Amino acid sequence: MARIDGAAFATFILMVIVLMVDGSTTSGLGIGLGPVCTQVVGAKDGDTCFAVEQTFNLTSDFFTSINPNLNCTALFIGQWLCISGIGN
Ligand SMILES: *[C@@H]1O[C@H](CO)[C@@H](O)[C@H](O)[C@H]1NC(C)=O
Ligand SMILES: *[C@@H]1O[C@H](CO)[C@@H](O)[C@H](O)[C@H]1NC(C)=O
Repeated sequence: MARIDGAAFATFILMVIVLMVDGSTTSGLGIGLGPVCTQVVGAKDGDTCFAVEQTFNLTSDFFTSINPNLNCTALFIGQWLCISGIGN
């Protein structure tokens, strides 16, 4: 009797944990929270935001919106620059 109850309880707890993990995974995908980047390039020597915008045909507004925390005066080689995605 006690063993059956224990097993049932354990199963119940397992299901609750699975549901909680599932729920947090789903809500963790958060829609509309900041920009989404779908493609990045590494900055090359001498790259500027303007050069990258020209290369990938992006408007400065769009580039800024998908790279919200980028400081264009302090690019470093290999820095990930977002070139495709959904801006704010
Ligand atoms: C950039 O956009 C212009 C105007 O829409 C177009 O004529 C040109 O072919 C594009 N260049 C590239 C590399 O996509
Ligand atoms: C960007 O970087 C430059 C050089 O490090 C710095 O002087 C400037 O304050 C930075 N700007 C922002 C907005 O962080």
